[in-house]
Amino acid sequence: MSERKATLNIEGQGPVDFPIMSPTHGNDCIDIRTLGGKTGLFTYDSGFLSTASCKSKITFIDGDKGELLYRGYPIEQLAENCNFLEVAYLLKNGELPNASQKTAFEDTIKNHTMVHEQLAKFFSGFRRDAHPMAVMVGVVGALSAFYHEAMDFSDAEHRSISFNRIIAKMPTIVAMAYKYTTGQPFMYPRNDLDYTANFMHMMFGTPCETYKPNPVLVRALDIIFTLHADHEQNASTSTVRLAGSSGANPFACISAGIACLWGPAHGGANEACLQMLEEIGDVSRVGEYIARAKDKNDSFKLMGFGHRVYKNFDPRAKLMRQVCNDVLKELGLENDRLFKLAMELEKIALEDPYFVEKKLYPNVDFYSGIVQKALGIPTSMFTCIFALARTVGWMTQWEEMITDPEYKIGRPRQLYIGAAKRDVAPLASRK
Ligand code: SDX
Repeated sequence: MSERKATLNIEGQGPVDFPIMSPTHGNDCIDIRTLGGKTGLFTYDSGFLSTASCKSKITFIDGDKGELLYRGYPIEQLAENCNFLEVAYLLKNGELPNASQKTAFEDTIKNHTMVHEQLAKFFSGFRRDAHPMAVMVGVVGALSAFYHEAMDFSDAEHRSISFNRIIAKMPTIVAMAYKYTTGQPFMYPRNDLDYTANFMHMMFGTPCETYKPNPVLVRALDIIFTLHADHEQNASTSTVRLAGSSGANPFACISAGIACLWGPAHGGANEACLQMLEEIGDVSRVGEYIARAKDKNDSFKLMGFGHRVYKNFDPRAKLMRQVCNDVLKELGLENDRLFKLAMELEKIALEDPYFVEKKLYPNVDFYSGIVQKALGIPTSMFTCIFALARTVGWMTQWEEMITDPEYKIGRPRQLYIGAAKRDVAPLASRK
């Protein structure tokens, strides 16, 4: 780390120095961990716009360059040259697998794809029209009730088997959440299929015939998983880290991450974006919605646009648009109404001074809804797909947090603006 320092001059107190930490890439950080002890002051940063919550080696985002690196590799190269399980191996272990490591990891995951038969009974407690994300929060959180034998997370082997179990079981549970809404029977995993083809079999197959996955569509969905695998300290990942910092088991932490991801400002945006496109309906109405998005008195936001970090194009959005194009072409849907509407909306928004000035560009959610709809995935399942993929990132970030020598329970302070200290008046005298 560099020897540079930041000096804070506080009225009534002498100057106080704080070390500046320099990263591999990205912003230097002022180490303010001793600020409270040295000055009695806290920092205030609601929404954490200028706060680094941890050190991490996993993912780096350059918002100005529109760059996303998983363990140093650009997302564009990973999406083109690797499959999702290779990326999962990379995120977990820090290096891409060689051929034998890849085969061994794929076989390990295959042998954990089934869920306990008792877990299937959890679904029947939900109404058939329950939102699948509500089901996911409940069922994933319950997983910890099934694995008492591997819950010492100071043991690397217990962490590894938990990682493998949840990465392997998420597709099975997501597919079960979907099947439950349709009234169709749950489909067991098939070990003759690879990870993403197996997921599509469990989603769209039935016991009445052998599901034949379309390799173009499987590859498209596999790339979508890669694009969603991790994204440094976003809201749901920060939720998983904070929950894990108390020592909660990883299944409960992932359940908390799923709950946070569900919000329309975060992972729920792909579902909200498709609903928005359906509501706009026609290119002739785009102007009306652009005006609403710019209207301070209107809470409407252009779903799938904007990002806390990317102030240039979200690199995932570019890749997602290409995947969308490939899928629609494979399915003969090149003239898909919503895709054409989305591209027109993107073109108009990117030329509008408001969006240019506020640096609002399409994010990963803008095209993902259109391509998932074309793949036959219902809108209500979009965020479940996001959660399936992001579970790799959540588990990797969770493990980095609990193995960090500086790790301690996360406990932020506050700026208290409530009532000043006062005495309780007797009931009879209260007005
Ligand atoms: C994800 O963090 C991650 O990495 C998340 C994610 C991941 O992989 O984990 O990338 C996944 O969550 C992508 C984002 C999906 N959400 C949406 O598409 C919902 C629509 N977008 C917005 O809600 C918003 O852009 C956020 C939540 C994504 C970012 O919000 P910020 O950084 O807090 O920015 P902001 O809301 O303060 O916006 C800055 C300005 C505001 O105007 P002013 O107050 O400065 O006048 O831009 C405006 C906002 O009103 N603005 C928008 C807008 N997004 C921001 N105006 C219209 N339409 C939008 N979409």
